[in-house]
Amino acid sequence: MLKAMNTEEVRRRQYLDALGITCWESRQYPVLAAPDVMTANPDLTGDIPESSTQPFQSKKPDETADALGLWRELESAVRTCTKCSLHVTRTQTVFGVGDRQAQWMFIGEAPGADEDRQGEPFVGRAGQLLNAILFALGLKREDVYIANVLKCRPPGNRDPQPEEVAQCEPYLLRQIELIKPRLIVALGRHAAHSLLKTEVALGKLRGQQHSYHGTPLFVTYHPAYLLRNPADKRKVWNDLCHARTVLQRMETA
Ligand code: URA
Repeated sequence: MLKAMNTEEVRRRQYLDALGITCWESRQYPVLAAPDVMTANPDLTGDIPESSTQPFQSKKPDETADALGLWRELESAVRTCTKCSLHVTRTQTVFGVGDRQAQWMFIGEAPGADEDRQGEPFVGRAGQLLNAILFALGLKREDVYIANVLKCRPPGNRDPQPEEVAQCEPYLLRQIELIKPRLIVALGRHAAHSLLKTEVALGKLRGQQHSYHGTPLFVTYHPAYLLRNPADKRKVWNDLCHARTVLQRMETA
């Protein structure tokens, strides 16, 4: 017999049905048997509930004054950072957003024009697609933490330079230290290469569990890449189902 579902769950199922995603049904989250999905709607921009698309900065009731102080210190260090030349061209720094006690942490490359303007990661078209991917996974933007390797926009969206990554990475490491996510998802080649210190092709890094300073890390395609290559949404679905399976195993271990 079907369990009673709340409205959110019904909408999620309708949304996934529209995309042809059925692996939620048994809650088995098959890793390689993911259906031919995320191609039904190339933009994956279905009717996502408002709560999944709104920016959110969590204030956990159980966050201690000490933890809040540490976050404020870090935010202030990032906001006033002049360690590399990107501070000259930025409108503002883009710190990170979401649940500071999240299990999932998503890490992109660097802010783009929209993020530089709004001061929040993944708010442009790629961000909308990321929200939709989270929704398909049964997660909301406010359930996870989203950040970038670089906190400032490289002019013209050029690739991050190694010295910029070297200067900025300690901020990301500190975020990870404070959040203590159960797993990290590196979005795209640049994030994966910066975090894993490798030049191995993204296609080869996918499908494996890596480690970033002791936190399990999975690699998948960047949402901006998916906007150009919608057929690869299925691979992202596989990657994230894999990550979710690992997380579930950690929880039951
Ligand atoms: N691309 C990224 O890697 N990060 C953002 O915040 C936006 C686009």
